Amino acid sequence: MSKIAVIGSNMVDLITYIDRMPAQGETLEAPGFALGCGGKGANQAVAAAKLGAEVLMLTKVGDDLFADNTLANFQRFGIDTRYVQRMPGVSSGVAPIFVQADSHNSILIVKGANAHLAPADIDAAAQALRECALIVLQLEINVDTVYHAIEFGRAHNIPVLLNPAPALPGLSREHLAQLDFLVPNESELALITGQTVDSPASAHKAAQTLVASGIRHVIVTLGQQGALYVGEEGEFQIPGLSVAARDTTGAGDAFIGCFIHHWSRNRDIRAAMTQAVAYSACSVTGLGTQTSYPDAHAFAEFHRRLDA
Ligand code: RIB
Repeated sequence: MSKIAVIGSNMVDLITYIDRMPAQGETLEAPGFALGCGGKGANQAVAAAKLGAEVLMLTKVGDDLFADNTLANFQRFGIDTRYVQRMPGVSSGVAPIFVQADSHNSILIVKGANAHLAPADIDAAAQALRECALIVLQLEINVDTVYHAIEFGRAHNIPVLLNPAPALPGLSREHLAQLDFLVPNESELALITGQTVDSPASAHKAAQTLVASGIRHVIVTLGQQGALYVGEEGEFQIPGLSVAARDTTGAGDAFIGCFIHHWSRNRDIRAAMTQAVAYSACSVTGLGTQTSYPDAHAFAEFHRRLDA
């Protein structure tokens, strides 16, 4: 059994490529725009599915023209949408994104229908969820729904991974301690632990406090510096890859999508992280979020070019 359940958000990404952010009251011409499918949950689901994973998605779409496109997008990648619900009278989630010439991004999110994904929706999908090898969560839905999913995983012996993004203060210690995997970036790790995290060494130290509190595996994504692991299997770092970055939006989601695909098949954390660092590096060489995620064939080609 290796099916993955992603319980999380979907968004319509409104991506504007900019030279700089306008000042207050200023109108500025921007060089480019793209409309894409995004949302941290959907991005992670699509990355895993593109690589060949079987994925069940729990999310909500709105009552607008974006909803059909989002559903069709999930289905294009073979994602199980039995539990993707439309919310009458509510907008779909949207994310205006601004990408600078140096590849870095700023994102606003409007949760829309995602805010209506409730604990009862998890109970309604219980039978399908029990057939999954892993439950994957982020923080673009209500936190009570996230906590309920953690409790569900615990009660049914299904491993749970939380990507605590976007960063949210005041997460329940009791629920965090029940996680199998926590996958923060450095700023999310700093917020959760209250420690300064500005180097791999300080990330190691902060991750150790989380493992001491009960989390089995903490994986910290470090951008260009790769990712580090602290947990039951010891401590190690997977170095980053040097690539020409064009758009870093959704790189963290690419990491998680690839990690969950490999881990759910082989249960080998180090090998899954090594693949995930490369997948995330490959994603930043393309534009957009899901559009920049390679399928298994294109990812193998990226590996061949790296080895050449
Ligand atoms: O992590 C990137 C994602 O964050 C974007 O796709 C956007 O929709 C926001 O959810």
